[in-house]
Amino acid sequence: MMTETKISSAKAIELEDKYGAHNYHPLPVVLNKGEGVYVWDVEGKRYYDFLSAYSAVNQGHCHPKIVGAMMAQAETLALTSRAFYNDVLGEYEKYVTEYFGFDKVLPMNTGAEAVETAIKLCRKWAYEKKGVAEDKAVIIVCDGNFHGRTTTIISFSNDQDARKNFGPFTPGFVSIPYNDLDALAEALKMDNVVGLLVEPIQGEAGVFVPDNGYLEAADKMCKEKEVLFIADEVQTGIARTGKLLAVNYEDVKPDILILGKALSGGVYPVSAVLANDEVMMVIKPGQHGSTFGGNPIAAKVAIAALEVVREEKLEERAFDLGNLFRAEIQKLVDESELLVKVRGKGLLNAIVINDTEDSSTAWDICIKLRDNGLLAKPTHGNIIRFAPPLVMTEEQLHECVAIIRKTVTEFKK
Ligand SMILES: Cc1ncc(COP(=O)(O)O)c(C=O)c1O
Repeated sequence: MMTETKISSAKAIELEDKYGAHNYHPLPVVLNKGEGVYVWDVEGKRYYDFLSAYSAVNQGHCHPKIVGAMMAQAETLALTSRAFYNDVLGEYEKYVTEYFGFDKVLPMNTGAEAVETAIKLCRKWAYEKKGVAEDKAVIIVCDGNFHGRTTTIISFSNDQDARKNFGPFTPGFVSIPYNDLDALAEALKMDNVVGLLVEPIQGEAGVFVPDNGYLEAADKMCKEKEVLFIADEVQTGIARTGKLLAVNYEDVKPDILILGKALSGGVYPVSAVLANDEVMMVIKPGQHGSTFGGNPIAAKVAIAALEVVREEKLEERAFDLGNLFRAEIQKLVDESELLVKVRGKGLLNAIVINDTEDSSTAWDICIKLRDNGLLAKPTHGNIIRFAPPLVMTEEQLHECVAIIRKTVTEFKK
């Protein structure tokens, strides 16, 4: 049943444009309902969601179990702050640490906050455990990274839009080429290196998948040098790439694991940093925190979201559907002049379009996909990410491939 609405798409866009900051450039579609793999616009048209809120909605829109957990807890106790204990946080902490195999969790809300937490944790560990001289710690990051939008995080971005006129920047980071073990070996020779912060697949950069063995070798090289391997799985984690974590494709055990987005199934901001005691216990009361981090709603929502991943076998689904998707889209790439390649793992994929990075072709194709009933968003002028909810069926995926095929075949620059 469609929800009654009093606002047209045109009016909703006009309001956002007039009263909201212009820090996003949304695709012109105004949504007011979501269920599973579908979203609806205010005029009642149904779309397949191929963005999943940047991979936050892996479990599908408005998953009844997750929404139910949120509603029940919201009616009971929403927020205590960490000034007091509550009866839910400990249960969640036990659940999430056992789920991912770490001693401890530090709960936060957004991905960027969790990345900030990991950086602070790594630095503190370096000074207090590794014996690095005060204020000298260096964390290695990778070119093309996306870890969020805070002033420290953009300090080590090389996206000029993300940085320009936001300086001065936070020191203590060195950026090396992604997927380049020689560059990593060189960087690890520097004094005072304490961590490597890396995305197992670079999502925002355009779904860049490193070579097989890169992560495992990088992890090993870090461990040899007593450097913390920090995996940012905010986008790649929680079954998105066909494994619970993208690092699970190789024999990698991060020293610090960063999660967000689908940790809540997209219904609530929940993020987390996981580490073993050796690292996590350097943080003492008063040294880090967040009013909302680890609140009872977040705790219940995250348990439900992780249970859904297991109960509905989302890892296996993402793995199998991802193989199917890439095989089908590869046929289209072979036939079409417009497409150069498809790449990805599980249901985190991208197509690269035969045009320049600053062209509008990816955007124009996304407009046509929208017209044909599928919502996706460019990551660059010539790259479109395809990341549907993982609860998709094979039949639905075939329908989506048909929409993409029709759109690409009919597209004229
Ligand atoms: C790898 C990665 N890290 C961190 C973030 C930041 O997450 P948030 O937008 O919740 O702050 C993102 C968001 O896209 C991301 O993809």
